[in-house]
Amino acid sequence: MAAAMTTAPLGEPILEIRDLHLEFHDHDRPEVAVADFDLTLHRGEIVGIVGESGSGKSMTAHAIAGLLSRHALERSGQILFDGHDLLHCDRSTLRHYQGDEISIIFQEPMTSLDPLQRIGMQVEEALRIHHKELSAGERRAAALSAMDAVGLPDPQQVYGMFPHELSGGMRQRVMIAAATISKPQILIADEPTTALDVTIQAQIIALLRKINAEDGTAIIFISHDLSLVRQLCHRVVVMRQGEIVETGTADEVFENPQHSYTRMLIDAIPKVVL
Ligand SMILES: Nc1ncnc2c1ncn2[C@@H]1O[C@H](COP(=O)(O)OP(=O)(O)OP(=O)(O)O)[C@@H](O)[C@H]1O
Ligand SMILES: [Mg+2]
Repeated sequence: MAAAMTTAPLGEPILEIRDLHLEFHDHDRPEVAVADFDLTLHRGEIVGIVGESGSGKSMTAHAIAGLLSRHALERSGQILFDGHDLLHCDRSTLRHYQGDEISIIFQEPMTSLDPLQRIGMQVEEALRIHHKELSAGERRAAALSAMDAVGLPDPQQVYGMFPHELSGGMRQRVMIAAATISKPQILIADEPTTALDVTIQAQIIALLRKINAEDGTAIIFISHDLSLVRQLCHRVVVMRQGEIVETGTADEVFENPQHSYTRMLIDAIPKVVL
């Protein structure tokens, strides 16, 4: 297995999350999803978020991506990006960044892709929204190039296909092409490989590493697979019940975990892959 990358190519801070607190009020008792969450993400950095189910990883990701519902959710703290607080700004400011500067991909691309729309149109969507100055031909050329960059075979042909005609691994590549076509500063990947077999998982990890290395895209990588996190991430955040219990470089956290909860997670990694 590849050794963890110890030296993060730390650029300037591009995202600052301060004291994030998210609390649901749609049941009898308030449910705290995220509490006291602080994180500074630097340009070109890959940060992993790990923790048991329900620990607040996806809620944190949704908050950064501007996907929190307005309903029954109390929020406080700040998510500072490009001079704006994404936690409290208006929808048009959020839309300005969504899919252009900050993109997100999910576990199951079939739920994010429109089954009735051709792949090419979906890969181009961010350009249609954010780069209206481009002609249809320029958009198509950019889509083909993005599809080629994520390793989709025969982009010309895939451009005209529908999601159901592709394998799960190809659909995840389509999602990544769509998410990165406008070269976002931040890519959030919420369990992007969980639904894929190990060979395809490894290819997607290699692809994320390439996007990070070539475009300087900062990546927030959420996964239950700690061995993947160790391979890919410069830094790791360990969450439990909405709070950060430990954070450090991947080497620090995996080789010298400070918290018993982190040790428990690490002990659960199948030894054969370590
Ligand atoms: N609509 C809701 N109402 C009440 N609580 C909610 C709601 N949505 C999420 N939560 C709570 O928010 C907490 C964090 O959920 P989140 O989806 O972020 O967990 P996660 O770490 O991504 O888990 P998983 O690994 O299973 O994806 C959970 O405890 C969950 O119960
Ligand atoms: Mg989740």
